[in-house]
Amino acid sequence: MTSKDDLICIILAAGKGKRMQSDTPKVLHSLAGRAILDHVLLKASRMSPKEIIVVTSPENDLIEAHVGEKATCVKQPEQNGTGGAVQAAFTKIPDNFDGKILILNGDVPLVAEDTLQSLTQSNADLTITTVNFEDPQGYGRVVLEYKSVVKIVEDKDCSAEEKTITTCNAGIYAGQAKSLKENLGKLKPTNAQGELYLTDLVEISNSKGLKVSYVSAEPYSVQGVNTRTHLSALEQTIQNRLRRMHLENGVTIIDPNTVYFSMDTKIGFDCVLEPNVFFGPGVTIGDKVTIKAFSHLEGANVHNNVVIGPFARLRPGAVLEDKTKIGNFVEVKNATIGKGSKANHLAYVGDAEIGEGSNISAGVITANYDGFKKSKTIIGDDVMVGTNSTLIAPLTIEDGAYIAAGSTISGDVPQDALAVSRNRSIIRDGWAKNFKEKNRKDS
Ligand code: UD1
Ligand code: CA
Repeated sequence: MTSKDDLICIILAAGKGKRMQSDTPKVLHSLAGRAILDHVLLKASRMSPKEIIVVTSPENDLIEAHVGEKATCVKQPEQNGTGGAVQAAFTKIPDNFDGKILILNGDVPLVAEDTLQSLTQSNADLTITTVNFEDPQGYGRVVLEYKSVVKIVEDKDCSAEEKTITTCNAGIYAGQAKSLKENLGKLKPTNAQGELYLTDLVEISNSKGLKVSYVSAEPYSVQGVNTRTHLSALEQTIQNRLRRMHLENGVTIIDPNTVYFSMDTKIGFDCVLEPNVFFGPGVTIGDKVTIKAFSHLEGANVHNNVVIGPFARLRPGAVLEDKTKIGNFVEVKNATIGKGSKANHLAYVGDAEIGEGSNISAGVITANYDGFKKSKTIIGDDVMVGTNSTLIAPLTIEDGAYIAAGSTISGDVPQDALAVSRNRSIIRDGWAKNFKEKNRKDS
């Protein structure tokens, strides 16, 4: 998509987010496996603006670090309100820019694309987004007269009468760069919070005879995140949407309310999800895969006809090729399990490459970490690793080899060989009988 030269997008993310009671900046909290800010960045980029400017907090560099190359960041010198934030963004906008500005609150992640389309298509000097909330508490109220926007009054500045207004400001705006810039200079902190309110631009624009209009949005799409209660409510909203989407795409989900997805979870054709499955970010599942109850997956790439769980854990870098089986209490991290190979019970496979048709028995551990560095275990095709074996990496076990149960293997094993490293059993005939008889007499 080519970018629109006449559109710049500003995302406000410099607020203190005090109500979250967290050391993590509000917009970096996670929602369906993705930072709140990333939801907003993605929506902004779909409008193909020539630039996205994120206004960040003067308190730390965490947001800049997170945003990286995805957008331009500018620090708001002091957290003096949403108006101050947009003023800071304008320091990055060339004076001769004559296009439109789309302004998004960084804490409103679910905003619908069609709302943004309507905003960017509006020709008014300033367009706001309204929403009707049953419980408008905390939001700025939009005072309308004969469908004209008169002003926005912040919750803390509302009169008793204004408090009863349920038409709220959704915190998403578009405006002409030139008039916005001029009017931003007129903001004054004469309000309950002593801040520069972006929302005062409505009254200022009206007083100059500029055209102010509005688009309206659905409540679910413009719910802001101010507290952790809001965050969990939004998580439920988004999870319900993702559950519906996967069901409609043909995934069987036995108990949808217990399955959690990330925004980027991809699931193929004819898969079955048992209850209590959690998808962290970066999971791709192929066709005809069954994920049994209580499994946790993140950063995993699962091919076709695979069976996972119950109680399996796939961590980043896990690749399960066709027809593999990963059973109960098996953890796979940064490891490829080749076609048809199995680890059915109680194993840790980390930093490994396993070929085709191999079997990792119960209790097998790849000892991949010496306290300083990680090392790799390479296992070929048709290898049988017996129960309770410890494979001390770096290590290569070639095709067709057998590892005897209970072995600790610290050197390479050649093709088709048997490696045993354990004490032989000692058998003493009649020992147990004598032992029991002696003890019974003594007691
Ligand atoms: C804001 C609106 C309110 C609207 C609501 C919708 C104002 C004055 N009020 O209120 O009318 O109903 O959003 O969700 O705009 N921020 C900065 N710098 C600051 C302060 C805030 O960048 O100095 C950022 C925050 O990080 C946040 C956004 O602006 O992403 C909104 O700030 P917040 O304090 O949450 O405003 P609300 O009280 O929710
Ligand atoms: Ca907010």
